[in-house]
Amino acid sequence: MAIASSDLQPASRFADAQALAAPGMARVDTLIRARLASDVVLVNQIAEHIVGAGGKRLRPMLVLLAAQAAGYAGTHDVLLAAVVEFIHTATLLHDDVVDESDLRRGRKTANALWGNAASVLVGDFLYSRAFQMMVEADDMRVMRLLADTTNRIAEGEVLQLLNIHNPDVDEAAYLRVIERKTAVLFAAATRLGGLLGKLPAQQEEALAAFGLNLGFAFQIADDVLDYVADSATLGKNIGDDLAEGKVTLPLIYALERADPTQAAPIRHAIETGGLDALESILAAIQASGAITQAGALAQGYADAAKAALYTLPKTAARAALESLADYALQRDH
Ligand code: IPE
Ligand code: IPE
Ligand code: MG
Ligand code: MG
Repeated sequence: MAIASSDLQPASRFADAQALAAPGMARVDTLIRARLASDVVLVNQIAEHIVGAGGKRLRPMLVLLAAQAAGYAGTHDVLLAAVVEFIHTATLLHDDVVDESDLRRGRKTANALWGNAASVLVGDFLYSRAFQMMVEADDMRVMRLLADTTNRIAEGEVLQLLNIHNPDVDEAAYLRVIERKTAVLFAAATRLGGLLGKLPAQQEEALAAFGLNLGFAFQIADDVLDYVADSATLGKNIGDDLAEGKVTLPLIYALERADPTQAAPIRHAIETGGLDALESILAAIQASGAITQAGALAQGYADAAKAALYTLPKTAARAALESLADYALQRDH
C-alpha cells in the first residue's frame, strides 16, 4: 500500500524520469560494477550480493537529472552518481547490522549471511572506495560536500541509536534524525548537479532544497511503509522498526493522539521492542489516523520540494525531478 493516492499517474511519470536518465544510468551501472572490484574475495561476494540485488537507484538518478537540469554536459555526473550510490550502499550494510534486519532488496541481508563483522567492514570498503572515486572529480567543493554529508549521515545514525526504546521521542527529535540519516544525502545528490553545472548560488540552493525536502518525504514514506507495506513487495521485513524499538512518525503520532490507556501498550512495545504486539500496535496506529497524518506531512515536504524548483528553467529534467517527488509518496517499495 502506498501512502498517498493521486490522479497524476505517478508510475508512468516515474517511468518518464527513468527513461530520461536511462543512458546515464546504464553508464553508472557499468562504473559501479567496475569499481566494486577487489582482490579480496569476500569484498566482491558481499558487494555483489547487495549491489546485484539492484535497489531503486534513486540517488544516482537524482545526480544525473539535477546535472541535466543544470545544463551540465560532461562525464563527472556519472562518476558522482556512482559515488553517491556507493555511500548509500555502505549505509545500508551498516544499517542492517544496527537494525538487526535480515531482509533487504528481497534477499537475505549480508549480516544474516556473512555476519556483522564482515558487513561492517565491507561497508567501510564501499565508503572508502567512494572517497577514492570522488577525488577523481578533482573539485574541492565536491569533496567538501560529500565529506560533510557522509559525516552528517554517521551523526544521524548515532542520534537514532540514542533515541532507541524511548517513547518520549517527539516529532522534532524524529525530524532531526531523518534530516541527517537520509535527507542530507538526497540534498547532496541534487546539489552535485548544480555544482557540476556551475549554477549561480540561488539555483544551486534551489536544487539542494529540492533534494532535502524530497529526502524528508522519502524517509517518512519509508517509515510508514515499515508498517503498512507488503514484505514481499517492499523487499524488507515489515515491523523492523518496532522490533528494534525505533520510534518513527506513525508511532509518534499514534502516541500523541492516544489517551493514557491507549498509550500504555504502545509505550511498552517501544520500551521492550520485539514483534509480539505488532498486530495490535498496527491496529492502534491505523485507528488513530497516524498514517494519514504522516502521509500529510510527507506530502507537505514533497510539495515544498517541487516548489523549490521554480527558479530553474522549465526543462524535461526539471519535470522529471518533480515527478520523483510524487513517486516518493506513491511507491510501494
Ligand atoms: C533505503 O533507501 C534507506 C532509506 C533511506 C529509507 P532506498 O529505499 O532508496 O533503498 P534501495 O537503494 O532502493 O534499496
Ligand atoms: C534509513 O533508515 C537508513 C539509512 C539512511 C542508512 P531505515 O533503517 O528505515 O532504512 P531501511 O528501512 O532499513 O531501509
Ligand atoms: Mg534499517
Ligand atoms: Mg525503514
